[in-house]
Amino acid sequence: MHLSKHLEGYDKDIVEAVLGIAEVSKAISRGFITHQGKAESDNIYGEQQARMDVWADGLFIKELGESGLVRYLASEEQPEVMEFESDTDLGISIDPLDGSSLLSVNLTVGTIVGIQRGGVLKPGNEMVGAMYVIYGPLTVLVYALGNGVHEFVLNADGDFVLRRENLTIGSEKRLGQGAARNTYLLFHEEFISMLEADGYKIRFSGSFVADVHQILHKGGVFTYPGYRGSERGKLRLLFECAPMGYIVTQAGGAVSDGYVDLLTIQPQSISERAPVYIGGKREIELIMGLPK
Ligand code: F6P
Ligand code: MN
Repeated sequence: MHLSKHLEGYDKDIVEAVLGIAEVSKAISRGFITHQGKAESDNIYGEQQARMDVWADGLFIKELGESGLVRYLASEEQPEVMEFESDTDLGISIDPLDGSSLLSVNLTVGTIVGIQRGGVLKPGNEMVGAMYVIYGPLTVLVYALGNGVHEFVLNADGDFVLRRENLTIGSEKRLGQGAARNTYLLFHEEFISMLEADGYKIRFSGSFVADVHQILHKGGVFTYPGYRGSERGKLRLLFECAPMGYIVTQAGGAVSDGYVDLLTIQPQSISERAPVYIGGKREIELIMGLPK
């Protein structure tokens, strides 16, 4: 079944936005070969941009914002929320190309999208949906709009076709962990030791979207914790943690900053960071229950 057919029944403006994002992602999947290397610029977090980051960001701004598909657009590559003329009140927060530092070694990267109404600076549990696309050996799109989590694959005809419906998080013991051990906070160190003692196998590529995709399918937990030097972690609440957290939660998992349900956090700014623990309910309950 094609993506457009699968989306029947949702609000028209949301369907058009999701299909617009899917079209841009097809262009991105074809664009890697012609946009290799680094850009001359850094983003607002001081990270060196890849040519692909800048190009993909521009495509989303044009196809979603300038076309009027959405009213508000916040991009990880831009300092401010952009507002466009539009008939809808849709707000999109987007990481155009997550994991892009790995492009130079040809590992999987992806696009992460959160969908809100009336603005973007809202807690994750007010999202109307979220989706991501990973550009790996295959280009795969996963969406959740309040009615299950569904996965599509880009076929040879250039169409997204259904691969798996109603995904639920796996039950294997896998552990993706960011940050360096010599900066771990005590409760985090205890969490990791407990999982290791319980036989968890390490799986960490350094591409958040790909790492969470693996945990969603196989099970376990991904964490990029707060650490000494950055107690609120590295990953961005609005562009990375909340949309992926929404999807994993819809698939029967959970997400936390270690203290509270991450989807309840009200962002103060679009560039806010959050520690993240995302995966099975059991693992997320474990970290939230540890004394801090
Ligand atoms: O966007 C940030 C990101 O590239 C994530 O995709 C990834 O999880 C993380 O940074 C990797 O960070 P580090 O290089 O510190 O391991
Ligand atoms: Mn990112």
